[in-house]
Amino acid sequence: YNLKGHNTFGIDVSCRRYIEFCTVDELIHVLDRLTIADRPIFVIGGGSNVLFTKDYDGTVLHSAIRGHHVVRVDGNMYLRCGSGEVWDDVVRLCVSNGLYGAENLSLIPGEVGASAVQNIGAYGVEAKDIIYKVEAVDVTTGELCEFMNEDCGYSYRWSRFKGEWHGRYIITYVTYKLQDTFVPHLDYGNVRDVLGRKGIQTPTAAQLRDTIIEIRREKLPDPAVEGNAGSFFTNPIITRQEYERLLKEFVNVPHYPVDEGHVKIPAGWMIEQCGWKGKALGRAGVHSRQALVLVNHGGADGSEILRLCNTIKADVADKFGIEINPEVNII
Ligand code: EPU
Repeated sequence: YNLKGHNTFGIDVSCRRYIEFCTVDELIHVLDRLTIADRPIFVIGGGSNVLFTKDYDGTVLHSAIRGHHVVRVDGNMYLRCGSGEVWDDVVRLCVSNGLYGAENLSLIPGEVGASAVQNIGAYGVEAKDIIYKVEAVDVTTGELCEFMNEDCGYSYRWSRFKGEWHGRYIITYVTYKLQDTFVPHLDYGNVRDVLGRKGIQTPTAAQLRDTIIEIRREKLPDPAVEGNAGSFFTNPIITRQEYERLLKEFVNVPHYPVDEGHVKIPAGWMIEQCGWKGKALGRAGVHSRQALVLVNHGGADGSEILRLCNTIKADVADKFGIEINPEVNII
């Protein structure tokens, strides 16, 4: 089964079997019938955070569990969504129905299940800020499980589903806790400036969503035009001491505070400083407007992109003494 249309890098690879499930019962049935020969299994969402470096010798599973349902308790609105819903459709639905809190996560590619695995984030908001509960099926026992937000071990682009629970659960539903009053988050980067240029000081949720979409379209390549998986690396978190050391050599290092002892350094900045922005290695390239994004210039295979990844990683380590790591799942 060919996966080229199932990964936004547009890598031409295949897997032995591809199975889609539409309900929890169907998923349990599928898991029950998979034999040793069908394994390993890999769960794919929108394919927007994966780099296939070779054919997948196993079964790829995809959730097509759809639907959403809102329950209102006091000022909170609980929106339960099937894991196969497209994330941005959920944000659009929220904004047009007075469910607030997801606006800054507009236009992030991918599906609902991945939002809970990855803790997707942008413009000062993370999925963990609005995730209330995650429902899943245990791959080995077929049991239904429920995890509250605090069970999931969320941190920057991280959850237990990525860590110690890797491969153990398949997410079926995610419930988001949203608000019925709109409180705009405008403090990240140029969000306030871009609104200001349009003469907007206090945006509506729809105006904020439109602005976030504009900013993303401006910087990030459209996978339909040029294969990519968004940010290829995570931004490294370093100690204050390391940061002080860095400042001696690079006076203008951009940074974001994480906690008292740590700061986050934008990997895109370091990659740009290494001279990689807009450059290519074979058919794999670094996006010209956002150096954190690697792109497929056409016909690249996964190993070509991986080679570029490793070259950049080595250059950043050489110049800054900092290790950067892919956020994309390399398979
Ligand atoms: N920068 C450069 N050159 C570049 C890119 C960035 O110098 O080519 C520096 C600038 O100083 C800029 C800073 O990095 O001010 C931050 O850049 P940006 O706001 O574009 O954010 P980012 O840290 O590069 C992260 C997320 C993005 C998200 C943006 C906005 C990660 C791994 N990535 O990128 O997420 O859209 O913040 O919130 O945390 C994604 O995950 O696919 C993604 C696009």
